Amino acid sequence: MSDTPSRVAMITGGNSGIGFATARKLAAQGFHVILASRNQQTSVQAIARIQAGQPTARVESIPLDLASFASVRQCAAAFQAKGYPLHVLINNAGGAIKGRQASFTADGFEMTFGTNHLGHFLLTNLLLDNLKQSAPARVITVSSQRHIPGYAGGPGAKFDYDNLKGEKFYDSATFYQNSKLANMWFTYELQRRLAGSGVTSNAVCPGFVPEAIGDRRTSPLDRLLYRKILPQMPFARTLDQASSAYLLAATDPRWEGLGGKFIVDGKERCSSDESYDEAKARHLWDLSWTWCGLDGSVSA
Ligand SMILES: NC(=O)c1ccc[n+]([C@@H]2O[C@H](COP(=O)([O-])OP(=O)(O)OC[C@H]3O[C@@H](n4cnc5c(N)ncnc54)[C@H](OP(=O)(O)O)[C@@H]3O)[C@@H](O)[C@H]2O)c1
Repeated sequence: MSDTPSRVAMITGGNSGIGFATARKLAAQGFHVILASRNQQTSVQAIARIQAGQPTARVESIPLDLASFASVRQCAAAFQAKGYPLHVLINNAGGAIKGRQASFTADGFEMTFGTNHLGHFLLTNLLLDNLKQSAPARVITVSSQRHIPGYAGGPGAKFDYDNLKGEKFYDSATFYQNSKLANMWFTYELQRRLAGSGVTSNAVCPGFVPEAIGDRRTSPLDRLLYRKILPQMPFARTLDQASSAYLLAATDPRWEGLGGKFIVDGKERCSSDESYDEAKARHLWDLSWTWCGLDGSVSA
């Protein structure tokens, strides 16, 4: 009997937060789950936690640091060496990188943009043939409603190519929102390029999930706030709700064949007006293609 798994899902950042809750549910649905993560020791613990509740769950990890193009290429190559199909790719890892000063990826890009957008752009493109060969297949990219001007009273994204590396100013919230707009442009442009392939591309916003944020906070006050107080708010989502929203986009038959959508709380929602600008999406795609070395300037 072949040991090749019949249904395979890869999730980035599956060691913690919403990614971990999603990995657990994918395993429960019978997927062979790949945790693509930068901390392999934590992955061992994450796999043990999943298998403690589901002894037959098939979960393994592959090293991935999205802040390094070399690591992304190694991750894709390690996956391809296994000869598995790939039915679901969830680009979940990342978030807002805290700090007053910009930090940079191994390749010199601002860390939030480099991790949330460029790392996932490269990973997805390197795995595209695997997804196409396994069709029907789905790519889910985790964005955030915070890219939308006016959402929760916030300013939304202000994408500026002249300030991509913090040349003019740095503010972690702005760079986060910009990276999430980049996730939207990527999602929609990928869907246009995948037309007829049997692979779909959608974006998801998990909503505000204080539990996931609280796990990262070290001050006792912050932990109290994010673990006990904010979860009581009507606008907060639990890890269970957020991961169910991912699952719906990734595996629910009602979403089969549907792409180019922004999914919030399991329903299609509008993203920002700017996110629907096809010329801007194509422009970012073309630049990202070159920056990631997909034009052949970097050998695979
Ligand atoms: N929580 C919310 O309220 C909320 C709202 C909207 C959108 N989101 C989005 O939801 C996604 C998951 O976030 P979360 O709330 O579940 O937070 P989380 O628990 O902090 O998860 C983020 C994951 O990304 C991984 N990661 C970070 N940088 C990485 C890199 N360079 N290479 C590989 N992995 C990396 C982290 O790994 P390490 O453990 O190694 O750090 C971690 O596993 C993010 O895209 C976030 O922007 C969250």
